[in-house]
Amino acid sequence: MRLLVCGGAGFIGSTFARQRLREHGDEVTVFDKLTYAGREENFHDIGEDPRFRFIRGAIEDREALAAAVEAASPEAIVNFAAETHVDRSIAEPDAFVRTHALGTYVLLDAARERDLRYVQVSTDEVYGSIDEGTFTEESPLAPSSPYSATKAGADLLVQSYFHTYGLQALICRGSNNYGPYQYPEKLIPLMVLNALHGDSLPIYGDGMQVRNWIHSTDFAAAIGHVLEHGHPGDVYNAGGPDEEANMTVVRRIVELTGASESQIEHVADRPGHDVRYSLSSEKVRALGWEPRVRFEEGLGQTVAWYRDNGWWWEPIRSGDYRAYYERQYGRSLHG
Ligand code: NAD
Ligand code: DAU
Repeated sequence: MRLLVCGGAGFIGSTFARQRLREHGDEVTVFDKLTYAGREENFHDIGEDPRFRFIRGAIEDREALAAAVEAASPEAIVNFAAETHVDRSIAEPDAFVRTHALGTYVLLDAARERDLRYVQVSTDEVYGSIDEGTFTEESPLAPSSPYSATKAGADLLVQSYFHTYGLQALICRGSNNYGPYQYPEKLIPLMVLNALHGDSLPIYGDGMQVRNWIHSTDFAAAIGHVLEHGHPGDVYNAGGPDEEANMTVVRRIVELTGASESQIEHVADRPGHDVRYSLSSEKVRALGWEPRVRFEEGLGQTVAWYRDNGWWWEPIRSGDYRAYYERQYGRSLHG
């Protein structure tokens, strides 16, 4: 297939691009704005592949997008482009509204113009928090944060283009991803790098919040299954095989890195913090997908990847991320 992968310079989008090139022989054009989270370094091992192309631009920029669609001549668009950190959405929602609402709308128009198949990458956070049981695709949308509310708005726009214009549009909602190339603002890479540097490990509130962890290669594969086999107009949930409380995850990271439990520090809770996410993935499993990586194994590999790949995170940890960290946590990072 010829694919236009929007937001493909980020964590999951670059994992998807790598998987489609190597395992499916697709032709991949990444179209990405390169926000703080998007990095050409994420293509270090695929950038020279003749079937790969990178074009810089924002999905809300109609002209740049039209030029990218012209150059890529895709059979399908897969949209990963998003602002993705809940804490940043609480501090400054502006970019979340622009990218998720306006950006998704402009991108849907581009797909409609050429009658392209379209997959929107979405999140379990659109369902809100669940104390017991699991969310299915029929669960009502009840987002809590500006991040999840704007992602839910984007999903509704996608569905409107299916119902109104007959666009071959599908949605794949994932649970919490982890793995190589994840920007260190997120729980697992933040804790791994802080543990390795002797920084404190800031747990929001009591740390008993539960997340349904999925390895990024498993989520990328689920999106591929939806792209190839999904039914237009449908939503598919893709949740990981394991649920863990934040405290358990951080304690395991302490063990794996050889850090000290005394680095763990409880800090002010996230406003509107969702207590638990849990997804039923029966529908995407019926398309032939299943997660391959158990959390215990994947977490060990992820810690090893960060330990061995300082070239990837050192420029982040010595750059703008330091100022973000100070604003968010009220303290500086060590070296
Ligand atoms: P990320 O922050 O690592 O990457 C996002 C990418 O989108 C970056 O490369 C960024 O430059 C690009 N981008 C942002 N705004 C853009 C715009 N206006 N135009 C073009 N490109 C733009 O995020 P991620 O964790 O890889 O998430 C990718 C997608 O998966 C998002 O849609 C997110 O909502 C969804 N998702 C993430 C998770 C998770 O746990 N990380 C779970 C479920 C779903
Ligand atoms: O569930 C899918 C979502 O998972 C994605 O849609 C989002 O893009 C992604 O960022 C992620 O959202 P979370 O808010 O769950 O992820 P985060 O890594 O920010 O936090 C995970 C949990 O850890 C959450 O309960 C908050 C907690 N946490 C996080 C940070 C950064 C802490 O206790 N301390 C921290 O410093």
